[in-house]
Amino acid sequence: MAGEGKTGKTKVLQEETRIFEPPKELVENSNVMKYMKKKGIKTEKELRETCSKNYIEFWDEMAKEYVDWFEPYSKVMDDSDMPYFKWFTGGLVNMTHNAVDRHAKGAKKDKIAYIWVPEPTDQATQKITYGELAKEVNKFANGLKSLGVKKGDRVSLYMPMIPQLPIAMLAIAKIGAIHSIVFSGFSAKGFGDRVKDCEAKVAITTDGFYRRGKPMPLKANADEAIADAPSVEHLIVFKRTGIDVNWKEGRDIWWHDLVKGKPEECEAEKLDPEHRLFILYTSGTTGKPKGIEHAQGGYCVGPAQTLHWVFDLKEDDVWWCTADIGWITGHSYIVYGPLCLGVTGIMYEGSPDFPDFGRWWKLIQDHKVTVLYTAPTAIRMFMKQGAEWPAKYDLSSLRLLGSVGEPINPEAWMWYREHIGGGKLQIMDTWWQTETGTFICSPLPITPLKPGSCTFPLPGFNTTIYDELGNEVPLGEGGNIVNETPWPSMLRAFYGDKERYHKEYWEMYWETPKRGTYLAGDKATRDKDGYFWIQGRIDDVLSVAGHRIANAEVESAIVAHPNAAEAAVIGKPDEIKGESIVAFVILNVGVDPSPELSKDVITHVRKTLGPVAAPTEVHFVNDLPKTRSGKIMRRVVKAKALGNPTGDTSALANPEAVEGIPLIV
Ligand code: WTA
Repeated sequence: MAGEGKTGKTKVLQEETRIFEPPKELVENSNVMKYMKKKGIKTEKELRETCSKNYIEFWDEMAKEYVDWFEPYSKVMDDSDMPYFKWFTGGLVNMTHNAVDRHAKGAKKDKIAYIWVPEPTDQATQKITYGELAKEVNKFANGLKSLGVKKGDRVSLYMPMIPQLPIAMLAIAKIGAIHSIVFSGFSAKGFGDRVKDCEAKVAITTDGFYRRGKPMPLKANADEAIADAPSVEHLIVFKRTGIDVNWKEGRDIWWHDLVKGKPEECEAEKLDPEHRLFILYTSGTTGKPKGIEHAQGGYCVGPAQTLHWVFDLKEDDVWWCTADIGWITGHSYIVYGPLCLGVTGIMYEGSPDFPDFGRWWKLIQDHKVTVLYTAPTAIRMFMKQGAEWPAKYDLSSLRLLGSVGEPINPEAWMWYREHIGGGKLQIMDTWWQTETGTFICSPLPITPLKPGSCTFPLPGFNTTIYDELGNEVPLGEGGNIVNETPWPSMLRAFYGDKERYHKEYWEMYWETPKRGTYLAGDKATRDKDGYFWIQGRIDDVLSVAGHRIANAEVESAIVAHPNAAEAAVIGKPDEIKGESIVAFVILNVGVDPSPELSKDVITHVRKTLGPVAAPTEVHFVNDLPKTRSGKIMRRVVKAKALGNPTGDTSALANPEAVEGIPLIV
């Protein structure tokens, strides 16, 4: 499991010997087999190896196959300014032209792009065709223009899972502005910090959203967030729930007023492929979130091609990725990938357990979903509720399953195959990151599977495992997972922080013969057959229900509480969420520990960072083990709290502090 390093679960995974061969029919009819036949490639190994070895030719071929270029590019990849790789130099492109316009103006005009399922069961499902989507996007794009939004301007989004979210993204991309989406479960401060960092000109939110059937406020948070963000000139508000909102005249504008009377046509900006498509913040080792930048050109290639090959999408498939669009999975595989392919996708607004644990399974039955892509944390939650929930519904429309976000433990994998996949469906366990934009290691429909392994690097990727010095480790051993060559949908930079971009991903192997190798930040091993097993993050980042949260960010929120002096945050293995957050807190002198105070600290973090980052347990301690330079040794705190050996602690400034850490398991 994430964060477990080389202990426990990892060993069990490595001993996995079960192999699940893909059914012949799936293999024979797969998109990837079609490609292999065309190229005269005989085996999966040959496919993966040839495309990766000749990665420039491969991505060139894919870019021509999957993307409509306004102007063809003259150079596939430019590495003259490493690590600022550039792709498709000389071309002109627009994501929204590829994702919407070419379908709306062609044979797919009346094909359904999205089936949107609202959370309240008394509200009607909406089906939106590519033609309708194009009109909505254009009206909104014209609305943005009327507010003065121009090419290169940033627009921050803070919205629930409603169709207006992809509409806004596509409109922003169409006019060459840059979107920055913040997951709507983040607190006002979380949103505000990100708006300020990217200096957004306009922000978009809703009056409220539905949570387990009840309307909840959202604009109030956005108001608080942008109150001290001087760059924000306008706040666009979509009316989702009808709840009361405060209104700032001159700044706030209703979505419906903005689009009223706007033309249904809007020409796409013809953009340099390196022009930024979006910024998405993710957690790093320090408390400060990093704004990962992605580029238009590469993004037109990556999500569509990987989705087509891995999930084998065909004209009549109904695709459902259950992620929230606020995370990278939603960006790539709810919005850009499926739309570029012109497939029909599901968007579900709400909780998996509303009104009961049958909601997802009913949705699959009602809309005849054929391919389901979800996260291990959801699978484990359903496992806990029992197989009788999915058993009530007809899931026979499903033909392929997927998993993302963290290692899927073999037990959950087997349950998923058995109870959702009718005991026969293959599971595509896709390993990737906000930074990579698309799947990197993943099975194809032709791959024999081992439960818990993301199998092999996809064609076009030179992904392997290095030791600290840049030597490839032999099969059977572990180390840092790296990409030796660039790829089109890779991150381009951090917004406003060149140095940190270099430091986090490239510095590790810069002074070795492997200069230009990308350090992913995960540990992995390969077994004797070359299957990859992801072990979790190298750095101090928690993985809670598939979300990356920096220990440092939670700690800094805790010490902002008036009674807290210092804090160390660790991840405790959690059956459902992967990890739960446990905090050890030193109180200010004169403050007495109490259960109320512990609750208060939790509430404080919830308010500052949002519910995902709230600790489930807070323990008050007198001291925390520190290095002589004053750095709190989380690793030692974690080992002691979980009952593992703490190792040699004699070099610590205060070895006696270890004794005061309570055992929490
Ligand atoms: C973890 C989510 C094991 C990993 C797409 C990675 C996984 C981080 C898997 C990125 C998987 C994601 N197996 N671990 N299939 N998928 N991870 O940026 O630690 O939210 O580095 O992107 O999630 O998280 P992010």
